[in-house]
Amino acid sequence: MNISRRQMMVAAAAVPVAGRIDAALAPAAVVRPDDEAYWAKLAGQYDVTRDIIQLENGNWGMMARPVLEHYEAAVRRVNRETSYYARRGLTPDLMAVRDRVAAKMGVASQEIAFTRNATEALKALIGGYNRLRAGDAVLYADLDYDSMQACFASLKRSRGVDVVSIALPEPATHQGLIDTYEAALKANPKIRLILLTHLSHRTGLVVPVRDIVAMARARGVDAIVDAAHSWGQLDFRPADLDADFVGFNLHKWWGAPLGVGVIYIRGSKIDLIDPDSANTPPFAANSYTRVHTGTVDFAAQLTVPAALDFQDAIGDAARAARLRHLRDLWAETLRGTPGLEILTPSDPRLHGGITSFRFAGRTSVQDNAAIAKRLLDEHRIFSVHRDGPARGACVRITPALFNSAADIRVLEKAIPKLLRRA
Ligand SMILES: Cc1ncc(COP(=O)(O)O)c(C=O)c1O
Repeated sequence: MNISRRQMMVAAAAVPVAGRIDAALAPAAVVRPDDEAYWAKLAGQYDVTRDIIQLENGNWGMMARPVLEHYEAAVRRVNRETSYYARRGLTPDLMAVRDRVAAKMGVASQEIAFTRNATEALKALIGGYNRLRAGDAVLYADLDYDSMQACFASLKRSRGVDVVSIALPEPATHQGLIDTYEAALKANPKIRLILLTHLSHRTGLVVPVRDIVAMARARGVDAIVDAAHSWGQLDFRPADLDADFVGFNLHKWWGAPLGVGVIYIRGSKIDLIDPDSANTPPFAANSYTRVHTGTVDFAAQLTVPAALDFQDAIGDAARAARLRHLRDLWAETLRGTPGLEILTPSDPRLHGGITSFRFAGRTSVQDNAAIAKRLLDEHRIFSVHRDGPARGACVRITPALFNSAADIRVLEKAIPKLLRRA
């Protein structure tokens, strides 16, 4: 097939510059979390399957249609121009994307670098942290992410440290969580490094990261923060966590294409993380030298501004409030139901949109996989069971912006039915 020069230019120009949502969907004022008419219009921007009620949106976040279109155009451009673009225009374009993300985070551009996901960012932080000596100790909790627990456990082999694990209280309180970490540090004075998961993928519990980081810092203990699920689901500015080492995802709650995460290292702490072994000296004092991804999906990174445009048009506070509202519609309505355990407290500081539940005494993986299966088979609700909390497995419910109050009502009616026949 012959493609004319003009056709090529039209294709090149077709890369949308931003992922703006339909002007009618950008709310004039802050949108209310229960304004179903607004949220239904917004849901229309997502091509979500209606075969099921999708309440398992924690794995990653769907791209809204304008973001997907931007991504498709960016893939076509990268594929068409390959190295001609990569060796000339790509680097400044990616630096501009990085600057945009850093500004949104409230941090300096050189303090962040793109990774392919939160795992890659956190692995670089945990493996690269160089202040540990044989005989020191490190700490993680039951609700931390499995791979990050494994990274911490591997420090025993690589650095000769003792690995301490704790169970977070269930039910939890804000002060109780801070006290739990403080008690663990007091009981184990050799701890030098802790892992903190801001928002647990197991239960949805939000840990008061800022307070715990400050408490640990005062005791000479560093913290690596796993913010894979929190930034974008909760309304906060990463700089306000006042943490030194953090891993983020942009492909969960920001709705960027799969394959974009961020590593953050506070500028003044850069020497505590070793340069990545795939980099060559001299090592600049920036996060970019602390992680080496090799060749990545540039189109995914180039689509991040479109994803941010889309989310900014909704507003961070409105998005977080909507997700909480969808969670409250079932979790707070059903709280107190005999035999039902809601695994995040009502305290709004301790949850976002995700919340898990458990039927009392039904703590095995098999029990909870069976409950998730019945939700799907009998009520068309797609959820997922999660293992790992010290008190037992559970079923996780993760709403997204395209879910309606009606979706949640189906869940709210289904859970008591399953409980009666459990
Ligand atoms: C708490 C937490 N940390 C880390 C990760 C890893 O994220 P990714 O698989 O995108 O690297 C996840 C993924 O779900 C997570 O929930």
